[in-house]
Amino acid sequence: MATKADLPRRIAFEVLLRFDKGGADRLKADSLLTEALARHSAALSEQDRGFVYALVMGTLRHWLRLDEWIKRLTGKHLKQMTPQVRVLLRLGLFQLYGLNHVPAYAALNTTVELAKGQKQSPRTIKFINAVLREAQRVLEADGFASPPAETDLPGHLLLAYGWPESLTRMLQGQYAAQAILDMAEQSQSPSGLSLRVNNLKTSTADYMQALKELGIEGQSLADPPEGIRLEGFSGSPRKLPGFEEGYFYVQDPSSMWVSHLLKPQPDESVLDLCAAPGSKTTHMAALMQNTGTITAIDSKLERLALLTENIQRLGITNIHVHQADGLTFDPMAGKLFDKVLVDAPCSGSGTLRRHPEILLHLKKLNLDAYIKTQWALLQKGFEGLKPGGAMVYSTCSVLRAENHDVVAKLLAKYPEAILEIEEQRPINEKADGFYAARILKKA
Ligand SMILES: C[S@@+](CC[C@H](N)C(=O)[O-])C[C@H]1O[C@@H](n2cnc3c(N)ncnc32)[C@H](O)[C@@H]1O
Repeated sequence: MATKADLPRRIAFEVLLRFDKGGADRLKADSLLTEALARHSAALSEQDRGFVYALVMGTLRHWLRLDEWIKRLTGKHLKQMTPQVRVLLRLGLFQLYGLNHVPAYAALNTTVELAKGQKQSPRTIKFINAVLREAQRVLEADGFASPPAETDLPGHLLLAYGWPESLTRMLQGQYAAQAILDMAEQSQSPSGLSLRVNNLKTSTADYMQALKELGIEGQSLADPPEGIRLEGFSGSPRKLPGFEEGYFYVQDPSSMWVSHLLKPQPDESVLDLCAAPGSKTTHMAALMQNTGTITAIDSKLERLALLTENIQRLGITNIHVHQADGLTFDPMAGKLFDKVLVDAPCSGSGTLRRHPEILLHLKKLNLDAYIKTQWALLQKGFEGLKPGGAMVYSTCSVLRAENHDVVAKLLAKYPEAILEIEEQRPINEKADGFYAARILKKA
């Protein structure tokens, strides 16, 4: 039996095991973590919760490089080990390498205890112990070498940052080596917290004052003016003032940029084909001062529940929600919209900092299904746009195949489509990687 003191590690192990077993399923680390932490909430302190979070996110972020190290240490492929053994080794190794405040003996002993709790055989426990001791020796000596970036960028990024080689190869056709290295570096750092003040309920200045009175330092993003960054805040955003009252929405600066690019005006009709959980839908509602109509569509019921919750919390009344496949749904019986947003499903390659598990999904990089849906949604959105209207196509991806190439295909097919603005933002120190294009339809 694992002791109570081991509970954070045991929870982290359980969550990570689901990733190992989940294979290519698009499991989200944050939702799995939220669910696991809620199940054990009575037994966990705030510090324990933070530790579980650091263990899971850190191990996921370094997963592929840890696997390379394990291969070197054992001379075995990871497929030759059981999922439990693989995950125990990754978790132990991550603590040895990535968590300065965990002494090496604690990383080793607790991993062995976890292995015992998992009813591993004495032989397996001995194996885990021996591998971690050897890892400790290597890390305390020269560390695990990685190939030089100049001659082998994919190999370097795999060993130095846990980036799958397939991702680096795709980016190499698109960015200079230094830009890819910068993105890999940025993808390792914590994302920090950004808020969009809900100007339907309060002004940015008033909300910043409310934070200040509680000793919480927020910096205005200036662009956009409703954006705030909380540099040192590490608690739950739900504990910030005015969460229940709908004074703010947690949103990355890049995501805020998209609604501004579309420029929805009061009293307009807007179609949002991929709306849930509603970051951009609710932002557009605020920019439209809660007037006009936003027809918000999404195919996933559980994500739409979040959208509805957000609409209510933020006090919005101009959004009409539909659960439907945006490819076949005809919400306005042929009526055309002033503005259209297609914030398409994508690989999420721009959000690696917040979703390190995407690195695992990107290992078997197959963008075909995304590209097919993106292309179909983009056409559907453009066909729903009034002549003289504007559409924005966006993704949180840094891959050209999901972005520029899809838009270029639209421009080639529809002579009435005019590209007004196009921008690919890399992952940077303050924001996710994002793409957006503003397309006009000739009047
Ligand atoms: C990038 S997310 C949208 C994020 C949202 N715009 C926001 O800012 O919060 C893409 C969404 O597209 C939805 N989706 C995927 N295929 C769809 C389809 N055929 N029709 C409608 N929605 C779809 C997914 O359920 C997902 O919620």
